[in-house]
Amino acid sequence: MANLRVAAMAFATTLPLGAAAQAPPPYQPGMGDLMVMTVQPRHLKLGLAGEVRNWAYADFAQHELEESLENVEKHIPKWRDFDVAQLMAATVKQPLEEIEKAVKARDGAAFDAAYRQLTDACNACHRSAGLPAIVIKVPDGSSAFPNQEFRPARP
Ligand code: HEC
Repeated sequence: MANLRVAAMAFATTLPLGAAAQAPPPYQPGMGDLMVMTVQPRHLKLGLAGEVRNWAYADFAQHELEESLENVEKHIPKWRDFDVAQLMAATVKQPLEEIEKAVKARDGAAFDAAYRQLTDACNACHRSAGLPAIVIKVPDGSSAFPNQEFRPARP
């Protein structure tokens, strides 16, 4: 660490003045960053709120998750060759609406069903995008990320 700092300082002092004054490029989170920073924790929080039937917070969490997914679509319209809006429409859009309805109706069974459907939809998109190793699940408290499966898939 100390060596690194010394090296960084030496580097900084050799930069031409103009370059040193320039602002760093704006941070542009990629698809994986947005998924891990915004989508995954919000999917988890929504699940935990629904599990204990906290409808007031579940209502908030549903909208936050929806916004996170909309932001993904807005900022990454194309991922590799895939049209992200199209994939969203084909997967998570409907289950999110079902969750919204269940929360408004304070219907626990409907929430559980819609949340399972949403979780399947996350995975449907991952599979469509050629990423079957990313497996999301209904949180079960088994790890620090209780809404992601880390055990290897059976062949
Ligand atoms: C529109 C398609 C799409 C949908 C819908 C989608 N994902 Fe993703 N997700 C991706 C793609 C593509 C990646 C890989 C990004 C990369 O390689 O940088 C990814 C990556 C991830 C990762 C990163 C894996 C890791 O371990 O670092 C997590 C976690 C994740 N998604 C969670 C979710 C959850 C939870 C949902 C549902 C609420 C969801 N995703 C819905 C396309 C999607």
